Amino acid sequence: MQALELDMTAIDLTKEAPVKEPERQYYFMAKARNYVKELSEKIGRPLTFCVTTFGCQMNARDSEKLCGILEEIGYQEETEEENADFVIYNTCTVRENANMRVYGRLGQLGRIKKLHPHMMIGLCGCMMQEPHVVEKLKTSYRFVDLIFGTHNIYKFAELIVSRFESERMVIDIWKDTDKIVEDLPVERKYAFKSGVNIMFGCNNFCSYCIVPYVRGRERSRNPKDIVREIERLVADGVVEVMLLGQNVNSYGKTLEEPLSFAKLLREIEKIEGLKRIRFMTSHPKDLSDELIEVMKDSKKICRHLHLPVQSGSSQILKKMNRRYTKEQYLALAEKIKKAMPDISLTTDIIVGFPGETEEDFQETLDVVRKVRYDSAFTFIYSKRTGTPAAVMENQVPSDVIKDRFDRLLKEVQEISAQVCSVHTGTIQEVLVEGVSEHEPSLVTGRLSNNLLVHFAGGQELIGKIVQVKLNECKGFYYIGQQV
Ligand code: SAH
Ligand code: SF4
Ligand code: F3S
Repeated sequence: MQALELDMTAIDLTKEAPVKEPERQYYFMAKARNYVKELSEKIGRPLTFCVTTFGCQMNARDSEKLCGILEEIGYQEETEEENADFVIYNTCTVRENANMRVYGRLGQLGRIKKLHPHMMIGLCGCMMQEPHVVEKLKTSYRFVDLIFGTHNIYKFAELIVSRFESERMVIDIWKDTDKIVEDLPVERKYAFKSGVNIMFGCNNFCSYCIVPYVRGRERSRNPKDIVREIERLVADGVVEVMLLGQNVNSYGKTLEEPLSFAKLLREIEKIEGLKRIRFMTSHPKDLSDELIEVMKDSKKICRHLHLPVQSGSSQILKKMNRRYTKEQYLALAEKIKKAMPDISLTTDIIVGFPGETEEDFQETLDVVRKVRYDSAFTFIYSKRTGTPAAVMENQVPSDVIKDRFDRLLKEVQEISAQVCSVHTGTIQEVLVEGVSEHEPSLVTGRLSNNLLVHFAGGQELIGKIVQVKLNECKGFYYIGQQV
């Protein structure tokens, strides 16, 4: 656990659980620890867990919190799901296929659980915030032990205790929350980099998107808590942070003492020992000149901006409730590039939003050609029940969407191969992230602009920032050599 020393043995379990957080959760961690110990003595081996994460970086960070609590209460990590005593799916529901994958995996898991009597199954994350999902689980997936949502993951230890004490399916879902609980254990996936939540929820209600319904209203963390967390991370070996929020550009608006995202970045920049700062996601409508200034002057903020456009047609953007036009978006991209010519711009695009015509689609292609993204995530529009777009007329037929999607992908890939290769021959600072998956004599490093480079090197370089010459571009990554 990251520089947060908890002495579980000092907690008096004969007393009632404290009401205040996080003390209440420390109490339940101590209690859960006893149950885990008891069971592991009974079966004669340590208990294990496996957490599978679906969806975005928010969920990835939430999973690290789940792992932190599980390790604190005595579980050990197991990479093979079928061998684990506690299997957790941290789910996503942003598109229908994310949702279907969870049901598919869960069906298989039910069969494995029959052969594995001690196995517990926990489901959490965005899908659980949808009442119809929980209904379906209650009727057709009775073997699930624990269901909770996005607002109460800090209560994980308390819920585990309820499960140990009740022997029944435990369900705890909150509709929304204004609560942020600090100082809980976290188990990071990487020693040298970490996600850091700066805000939760979303107030934008883009008409296609389910996130505001499952993640609740926007809440910003106190800047002091953010800085303190990053200082602790740095003391623990972290050199790069990724600041996380659905719309980081509106950070701080709801704080008692409002503070802009740009000012928060200035504070984070001052943290000694921190080398790199990234953030996700920037909504174009809220991206300020102040932010461009701060980025431009910064030595630590990476030269990468993910700026989801969603569509190039002003008419579709209006129906999407994105609150910018094609022209405004293009002007913004231009301004950013002018201030920072070496910046890498990436985006998200949805194809087949209700009412999208060929002309609208051509506008999207036009934006792609004008902005020339380093990369773009392209999605087929997925109807999410409860969102305004789900009941809009003129849903686009799937064969038309497929055809547009293929044409978009081709365009995006051609441009991105050209854009990415412009750094060939230059020497760049890279953060080494690991040994290459395909070739054990190579390591993989990340450039400030988020591209990857593979070069000869060993394990000892992991987590270090080194200078690398980019010899050859292979489309989306480079082959290089350390200099
Ligand atoms: N907060 C971020 C995005 C979070 S969801 C932002 O505003 O940019 C990540 C991406 O999923 C979105 O950018 C969008 O492109 C895509 N997405 C969201 N809802 C979708 C839907 N119903 N169908 C298809 N793609 C969707
Ligand atoms: Fe969804 Fe829009 Fe919020 Fe992003 S800003 S999470 S796309 S509603
Ligand atoms: Fe999915 Fe929830 Fe993220 S719906 S994209 S995991 S916020």
